[in-house]
Amino acid sequence: MNSINTNDSKSGNRPIILSGIQPTGGLHIGNLFGAIKNWVAMQDEYQCYFTIVDLHSITVRQIPAELRKSSLDLAAMLIACGIDTDKSVLFVQSHVPEHAQLAWVLNCYTGMGELSRMTQFKDKSAEHYENVNAGLFTYPVLMASDILLYQADLVPVGEDQKQHLELTRDIAQRFNHNYSDTFKIPEPYIPKTGARIMSLQEPTKKMSKSDGNSKATIFLTDSDEEIKNKIKRAVTDSGELLTEEDYVEFLADEKLPYNFSQKRPGLANLITLYQVSTNIGLEGIVEKISGIGFGDIKSIVAEAMAEHLNPIRTRYNEIRKDENKLKEILSAGAEKAQAVAFKTLRKVYKKVGFYSL
Ligand code: TRP
Repeated sequence: MNSINTNDSKSGNRPIILSGIQPTGGLHIGNLFGAIKNWVAMQDEYQCYFTIVDLHSITVRQIPAELRKSSLDLAAMLIACGIDTDKSVLFVQSHVPEHAQLAWVLNCYTGMGELSRMTQFKDKSAEHYENVNAGLFTYPVLMASDILLYQADLVPVGEDQKQHLELTRDIAQRFNHNYSDTFKIPEPYIPKTGARIMSLQEPTKKMSKSDGNSKATIFLTDSDEEIKNKIKRAVTDSGELLTEEDYVEFLADEKLPYNFSQKRPGLANLITLYQVSTNIGLEGIVEKISGIGFGDIKSIVAEAMAEHLNPIRTRYNEIRKDENKLKEILSAGAEKAQAVAFKTLRKVYKKVGFYSL
């Protein structure tokens, strides 16, 4: 049918990963250090599909011109962060119609009861009570379609998406059982590393793009000045500096997020920011910040973060400027994705009994 071969000798039999990200709001450092860095690191070991899920975004009202622009912004930023479109398939969900087509079929294999148990639906319908549309309800079925079309082995998911992945597995198993093996049953992928970045204004809450307080979130498009200002104004606990006891406890924690963050959330977040932007080990960090005040700690962290984000932003501006090139990249991505998605959908249509011409 066509000459695209996503299973070339380079991709070989690598396990398949699929992940999706909504093109609304900008990416922030929580996304970068929590998810995207992991995506970047997986690209050699896995055949990765990354999709910009614009179909999902319209479950909440969007301004069309903004949504249109955000999809390109996000694509450019993902590439700037290190998504390599020679290795991975990067595409916009609405460019591959099979997502919506499979979602319709899977809707007919999903229970109303199952969907009403989704905690994200309950949360979102409370939040957007003025627009509780059917799309919001069937959102997880579209997500299942994203995953199952590519026969993904693994899906990197955060805590908030685990339930949707469970549902995806249930739907896939049900379909396979009703007909015959059609879908690979995907597993959650829990990355080895991945930092949990907290709000700069309320360090017990995760950093979020929809935070009402713009000082709480560092966006990847923020200027050096903005980054530094936000970090300098970060909320820290009023307690005194790290005590000897804190150090011992802190160093005993091997992994981000530190248990330590329960006791000193603001300070722990600053330390996390420093760690992720420099890759210095904990001991090195303690050495750097021991005996200095919060003001100085913030300056060091602010400097390091600005330095880390600067080249990403420069690359982003470069890539975003050349819209034609970007469109070519997305068009090639959609073509590669569709070649795979088409095969799965064709099988599904056949199994459910659609007469094909
Ligand atoms: N629902 C996910 C979120 O809000 C985004 C998403 C859509 C996704 N399709 C996906 C994530 C498929 C992983 C796999 O974050």
